[in-house]
Amino acid sequence: MTSVANLTAPAVQEAEQYTAHNYHPLPVVIAEAEGAWVTDVDGRRYLDCLAGYSALNFGHRHPALIAAAHEQLDRVTLTSRAFLHDQFGPFCRELARLAGKDLVLPMNSGAEAVETAIKVSRKWGYKVKGVPDGRATIIVADGNFHGRTTTIVSFSTDPEARADYGPYTPGFVVVPYGDLDALAAAIDDTTVAVLLEPIQGEAGVLVPPRGYLPGVRRLCTERGVLFVADEIQSGLGRTGATFACDDEQVVPDMYVLGKALGGGIVPVSAVAANREILGVLRPGEHGSTFGGNPLACAVARAVIGLLETGEPQARAREVGARLHERLAGLVGQGLTAVRGRGLWAGIDIDPALMTGREASVRLMARGVLAKDTHGSTLRLAPPLVVTAEEIDVAVDALAEVLRSAA
Ligand SMILES: Cc1ncc(COP(=O)(O)O)c(C=O)c1O
Repeated sequence: MTSVANLTAPAVQEAEQYTAHNYHPLPVVIAEAEGAWVTDVDGRRYLDCLAGYSALNFGHRHPALIAAAHEQLDRVTLTSRAFLHDQFGPFCRELARLAGKDLVLPMNSGAEAVETAIKVSRKWGYKVKGVPDGRATIIVADGNFHGRTTTIVSFSTDPEARADYGPYTPGFVVVPYGDLDALAAAIDDTTVAVLLEPIQGEAGVLVPPRGYLPGVRRLCTERGVLFVADEIQSGLGRTGATFACDDEQVVPDMYVLGKALGGGIVPVSAVAANREILGVLRPGEHGSTFGGNPLACAVARAVIGLLETGEPQARAREVGARLHERLAGLVGQGLTAVRGRGLWAGIDIDPALMTGREASVRLMARGVLAKDTHGSTLRLAPPLVVTAEEIDVAVDALAEVLRSAA
């Protein structure tokens, strides 16, 4: 399609003028999207290799998800939790089954689900484990990213995310990610939970050493501590399994889910755990006006339906193998390292060549949208509907970007 006017520049300018600058978006203004592709206001098409930070695992406007949303929009969209609705019970039952847990507590954003996990862990610590009131601690990992609330940034180790937001919430202990000895040494009688990402996304798709997650599971069981897995970004098909923990047959005590659960349509998050943990909550002790609303539940049920077929997970494995095979070929050709699993890759660009931001700008010029993270690291997380040929398009574009800078 030929562009008749430059609509991008004024749209970028308007956003710059009227928005708080808490993001630094690429100068692309998206108007339409389908599957793995987006189209900007000037008619240019881009392959989406970020997928809304994994919120779009099933692609843009997946027909089954859009149909579920349309159908629900025509019936009822919001009731609040003061009443029940006919999507609520089925959603909770189906998500509990997918997670292999007794109970589900729905919220909206990922950060709210993490907050829920923190509150439930502390309450469990006081009511079940018998930790003295006000003394509960939660162990987290260096390099973590669990969201943006004041409590969550209190235990971030990223100065950008944390600085100037104090006073900080106490009760968190930070240990190096991937280090079982450090974790074992940090657990004491006040520890109620270990909260971890099974693969650290924001940190650059860091995969812990093999044996780490089973080791965390073992330590938590031995020491009477909850293992809380934040699968908000790693879960729901991204790594080639329903949960990233599945890769080492690890079952945490609590799953924290979000992003893709809302099918790229509405924010839906949840925690899933067994009755002896989530059962500590009583009416009035926690909640959310929009959490578990009819539209959210209807879309999330359709998401669960897709995951139950196993197809998105299989595609992430198959097409992800292609992605990693192609990226491995660029190590030494402008890349210094590649990490990840399934359709998820953290790519370290030789810092002598360019920053991650520069790489994402140059990829955009070649029709591929990706996002940098710290320094010279780039993240690739295309929707799981991407084809092997489209992966070749993305990796060929990256190869050109690296060659042109060499
Ligand atoms: C692992 C993880 N946890 C929590 C969050 C926060 O989710 P939200 O932005 O929906 O609050 C994110 C978002 O990137 C994440 O990657």
